Amino acid sequence: MMTSVRMKKILVTGALGQIGLELTPVLRKRYGKDNVIASDIRSPSKNFLNSGPFESLNILNRTDLEEVIKVYDIDTVFHLAAILSATGEKNPQNALEVNLFGVYNILEVSRKLNLTRVFVPSSIAVFGPETSKINAPQDISLRPRTIYGITKVTGELLSNYYYYKFGLDVRGLRWPGIISTSPPGGGTTDYAVEMFYYAVEGKRYKCFVREDTVLPMMYMPDCLKSAIMLMEADLSRLKHHADFNVGGMSFSAGELAAEIKKRIPSFEVDYEPDFRQEIADTWPKSIDDSDARIEWGWSASYNITSMAEEMINKLMKVRNT
Ligand code: NAD
Ligand code: SER
Repeated sequence: MMTSVRMKKILVTGALGQIGLELTPVLRKRYGKDNVIASDIRSPSKNFLNSGPFESLNILNRTDLEEVIKVYDIDTVFHLAAILSATGEKNPQNALEVNLFGVYNILEVSRKLNLTRVFVPSSIAVFGPETSKINAPQDISLRPRTIYGITKVTGELLSNYYYYKFGLDVRGLRWPGIISTSPPGGGTTDYAVEMFYYAVEGKRYKCFVREDTVLPMMYMPDCLKSAIMLMEADLSRLKHHADFNVGGMSFSAGELAAEIKKRIPSFEVDYEPDFRQEIADTWPKSIDDSDARIEWGWSASYNITSMAEEMINKLMKVRNT
């Protein structure tokens, strides 16, 4: 990956979430420990607090956000604070507030303080049941059925608006379900992470989607690579800005269980779909990421086999220490 000369002082919002916990150390290694300010509404562990600067920040408080950006002389934001799909359906009003006003506050403060670059991630949740299930296209009419998806479409549109109207360099991509050793935060794709946790503990897992449910997924190292590659890409090559499709891998819940079973033969799964099945059924099985490949050279490194191998090794190592 080429090294950016432009991102000097970075703020990460939602840094204690599934992605932030892994993105923050990677950014610190790349840009310097004291140049990456982590923030979240929750309190960090002692270990996290000792690993670099942290600010307690509610993204809905625009005055505090502006203050943090000024105090640290921030020029780049990775905005990860959000409410995910499953939690969002339980309290749609809260998801609407955090996801919409969170993005609006970030964009507005970044515009006002003339920041260099802003990352606002989107999701496969922008697609709805009318989208073709296989290779969901990049530029189509988006009609999601979840409140999370609706806030993500709005976030994409707002971000693109700030780019075209104000020249703010906002970038974003539609991540698939992210699989990681860090715990997931209330999404529909959480089962793909939980399966690993239960398997390494020698426990039977109750999966909340059907065995034949296929969704697009991505392993965390690819997720981090995609964010950094997009943020370091040459602006003149980008035709899209805040709404890139990015692909990783696609498999059914049953295929993932079988992949884990190859390594942990005693692993068993029961399938008991709940309200999250309805959400999963509205999303595509795979997405077409040709524009990300053309505009900033995207390609994923992991498939289901290499991802499962590494996940089990890492979790086993943690368990045995
Ligand atoms: P997460 O739920 O694990 O973490 C979100 C973090 O935001 C949490 O630590 C939470 O405390 C914080 N937060 C919530 N409300 C806040 C507020 N008002 N102020 C400040 N912080 C607040 O989410 P994640 O999985 O890390 O996702 C990060 C981003 O990536 C989100 O925009 C999400 O929509 C997107 N995304 C995630 C996935 C995935 O599978 N994890 C897939 C696609 C897109
Ligand atoms: N993994 C996320 C979720 O299930 C998709 O953005 O909510």
